[in-house]
Amino acid sequence: MRVLLTGHQGYLGTVMAPVLTAAGHEVVGLDSGLFADCVLGPTPADPQGHRVDLRDVTADHVAGVDAVIHLAALSNDPLGSLAPELTYDINHHASVRLARLARDAGVGRFLYASTCSVYGAAGGDDLVTEDAPLRPVTPYAESKVRVEDDLHALADDDFTPVFMRNATAFGYSPRLRADIVLNNLVGHALLSGEVLVLSDGTPWRPLVHAADIARAFTAALTAPREAVHDRAFNIGSEVNNVTVAEIAEQVAEAVTDSKVVITGETGADPRSYRVDFSRFRAAIPGFDCEWTVKRGALELADAYGKFGLTKEDFDRRFTRLAVLRAASDAGTVDDTLRWRG
Ligand SMILES: NC(=O)c1ccc[n+]([C@@H]2O[C@H](COP(=O)([O-])OP(=O)(O)OC[C@H]3O[C@@H](n4cnc5c(N)ncnc54)[C@H](O)[C@@H]3O)[C@@H](O)[C@H]2O)c1
Repeated sequence: MRVLLTGHQGYLGTVMAPVLTAAGHEVVGLDSGLFADCVLGPTPADPQGHRVDLRDVTADHVAGVDAVIHLAALSNDPLGSLAPELTYDINHHASVRLARLARDAGVGRFLYASTCSVYGAAGGDDLVTEDAPLRPVTPYAESKVRVEDDLHALADDDFTPVFMRNATAFGYSPRLRADIVLNNLVGHALLSGEVLVLSDGTPWRPLVHAADIARAFTAALTAPREAVHDRAFNIGSEVNNVTVAEIAEQVAEAVTDSKVVITGETGADPRSYRVDFSRFRAAIPGFDCEWTVKRGALELADAYGKFGLTKEDFDRRFTRLAVLRAASDAGTVDDTLRWRG
C-alpha cells in the first residue's frame, strides 16, 4: 500500500515508518518538523515526505494514497492545557479536514492515533473497554474525542476510519520524548539516582511500547475491513496496566543504585484507568504486545547510557513543551506554531 504517515518525524512516527516499510508498504511522510532535530543516537533515515503544516494540507497530499495513518498532533496533556485553542485547531479541525480530503480522494482506510486518555477519570478497579463512557479531563483528550466523533460521521462503504486508542507509550525512539512517564522516570533515575514521582503514585497508567504501537497500526492497515471498520480499539496489553508507583519500582530495579522517591506534591491525578485490550486481539488474531514495562526500562537505561543523555537535553530537547517554548522565545515559530520565514 502507499501510506501517508503524518507525524513521521515524531516519537512514534520515527519508530513506525521503518516497520511499515519492512512490511512492504511505500511510506510518504507529512510533518511540519517541529521536533525533527530532537534526536538521541544515530539520525534516523526518514522516508520521503512533505514538510507541511497539517492545517495547510491540500488534495495533492492525499492524491494516489491507499491509506492514511494520522499521528501528527500536539501530543501532550500539559501542552494542550497551555494552548487549548491551538490544540483544537491542529488536533481536531485540521485532522477532520485531512480525513475529508482523504475520503474525497478515494483513500480507503484512515487509522487515527487516539488515546486511552479519552477515558479520563474512569477510576475504579474495573477494566475499561472501548464501550466505556468517555470522560476526557484535558483539552488534549477532548480533542481526540471530537475527532473520533467527526470521523465516525464520515465512515461509509468506501471510507474506513479506525480509532486506535493507544495507552501511554514508552521505549526508545531516535526522536525521543522524555515527557512520557516511563521514559521520564528512567532518565531522571540515571541522571540523579532518584526515581522521582511527583504525584502520590496511585493513578493507573496503562503503558505500551512504541514498537508494539507500530506493529498494531501495521496490522490494522491490512486487516479485513469488517474487522476494523469504524471501530475503536484499545492498544496495549493488560500486563502493562500499572500504577505510577509500580512503574517507579520497575525503574528502580532497572537502573543501578537508584531509589524511588514519591513526593506526592501534585496530589492524586484525576487521569486514572485500567484498560481491557482484548478487542484488538480478537480483531487481529495472533496479535499481542511483545514489550513489558521492565524490559522497556532496561532498554531505555541502555540507550540513555550508550547515547550519552545529558540533563540539559533531558529537560529541554526531549520535552515537547520546552522545545515549543524555546522555539517561540527564539522567534523561529509564531504564536500559532507555524515556522516563520
Ligand atoms: N506518545 C504517547 O504516549 C501517545 C499515546 C497515545 C496517543 N498518542 C498519539 O500518537 C500521535 C503521535 O504521538 P508522538 O508521541 O509521536 O508525538 P510527537 O510530538 O513526538 O509527534 C507528533 C508529530 O506531529 C507533528 N506535528 C505537530 N503539529 C503539527 C502540525 N500542525 N502540522 C504538521 N505536523 C505537526 C510534530 O512535528 C511531530 O513530529 C499523536 O497523535 C498522539 O496524540 C501518543
